[in-house]
Amino acid sequence: MAARHFLTLNDMSTTELENLVDHGTKLRNEWRQGKVRDSLKNRVLAMIFEKSSTRTRVSFEAGMAQLGGAAMFLSPRDTQLGRGEPIEDSAIVISSMVDAVMIRTFAHDTVEKFARASSAPVINALTDDFHPCQLLADMQTYREHRGSIRGATVAWIGDGNNMCHSYINAAMQFDFHLNVATPEGYEPSPELIKAHSDRITLMRAPEEAARNANLLVTDVWASMGQEDEQKAREKAFSNYQINQALMDVADKDALLMHCLPAHRGEEISAEMMEHPNSVIWHEAENRLHAQKALLEFLILNRLD
Ligand code: CP
Ligand code: NVA
Repeated sequence: MAARHFLTLNDMSTTELENLVDHGTKLRNEWRQGKVRDSLKNRVLAMIFEKSSTRTRVSFEAGMAQLGGAAMFLSPRDTQLGRGEPIEDSAIVISSMVDAVMIRTFAHDTVEKFARASSAPVINALTDDFHPCQLLADMQTYREHRGSIRGATVAWIGDGNNMCHSYINAAMQFDFHLNVATPEGYEPSPELIKAHSDRITLMRAPEEAARNANLLVTDVWASMGQEDEQKAREKAFSNYQINQALMDVADKDALLMHCLPAHRGEEISAEMMEHPNSVIWHEAENRLHAQKALLEFLILNRLD
């Protein structure tokens, strides 16, 4: 049987995603009660990182250990991946030795190439285009605080980047409406906008996007790989900060999320990190539980 991969949210059906989110909450509750679970005993996850990471690395590595398995960190600097060995050859070899592979790259195409050659499930742990694992955690966090997100309005404020693209996919899969406010020239991919035009509304004014929204979300102005654009982006995005004034136009129960790392004073004001409606820390913790659910699903082909 060909391995199931998780390269974008569209690799799962809505039912599978909803089951994953529920299972993530179950694993969170069990873990908090101190229950030991060894569903992935003797299983191994390879973790390939072309880019830096704190949350993704810690959550996948801790998650495998908590489920009785192991995870290995592979950096292109120390492996033949960084010396030009074809990605497909690496995929054939690595996947012949482990039970799943998690990979974070610049080009999305690299993850796709790896997955096509891999005999083990491959998980996209962020590319320049998508960050689906973060959306599992975000959807789980919303549900734990507010119940189903179906029919809600979500406001994306800032860059039309990898996180925004995954929010567009999530709008389709989880059935909510997404208002996207970006400066001119920083809109999400035209293909995604076209494919999901009934789910998303593109706007310029952050206040318009945030009005009566049930969830406000933002991300850094310059993503990994865009460090040279930092100054130009600070200028372009200067009106795109989530702060109290923006929160005031949202629904009174609106939640606030940020995938982190955050740049306080840029895309989010310092006080908003600790706002009563901010669920940013819970969201970060849920990377652990959401991905444990994902690992069980992909490696064991079941959730129980
Ligand atoms: N949110 C997120 O993916 O964080 P890291 O880059 O630290 O993994
Ligand atoms: N958009 C950010 C997300 C980091 C988790 C980046 O790609 O750097």
